[in-house]
Amino acid sequence: MPDQDGPDASPPPAAPPAAPSARPPGELPVELPVELPVELTVNGVRRRAIVPPRRLLSDFLRHDLALTGTHVGCEHGVCGCCTVLLDGEPVRSCLTLAVTVDGREVTTVEGLARADGAMSPVQRAFAECHALQCGFCTPGFLCAVTALLREDPTPTERRVREGISGNLCRCTGYQNIVKAVHRAAGLIAEES
Ligand code: FES
Ligand code: FES
Repeated sequence: MPDQDGPDASPPPAAPPAAPSARPPGELPVELPVELPVELTVNGVRRRAIVPPRRLLSDFLRHDLALTGTHVGCEHGVCGCCTVLLDGEPVRSCLTLAVTVDGREVTTVEGLARADGAMSPVQRAFAECHALQCGFCTPGFLCAVTALLREDPTPTERRVREGISGNLCRCTGYQNIVKAVHRAAGLIAEES
């Protein structure tokens, strides 16, 4: 016969289910406006738009401005496909909110060519040196290399490799991209 005075061997009652969170994980704990105005210069053209505060610059360029030359690969800041120039400096457009570039100047791959449509020295060098295969990474490389050669017109081999280290290419093995950067440096020197 069971001991009626002993400890209760029955399992404790299950904890009540947690109350649902007031906001989903990752949501900001503040009320944001549904849309915000943004005004910036893209490839020399003044653009105005009303965008959600969380609109990525990459999506803004591709979907709102139809500048699909900016590619999106990882969307995590790893591959460099989405690189554009922000006031001349390379940035990951997939990590940049469109509203944060209000008043600034963005150059995409579509804005690298000359006013008459001729390819820039960097674009010519990539074509001459066969520095692309599928081309998915190419817009990001072209922007990154353009910025690199503005900063250092005669880069060493090591500097070139450092300069492109933030951009991934699955096709070329990088050798021809490195050659293209040196060739572009030569073309720029010839022009000046
Ligand atoms: S898509 Fe932006 S870094 Fe990969
Ligand atoms: S050319 Fe294909 S990923 Fe670079």
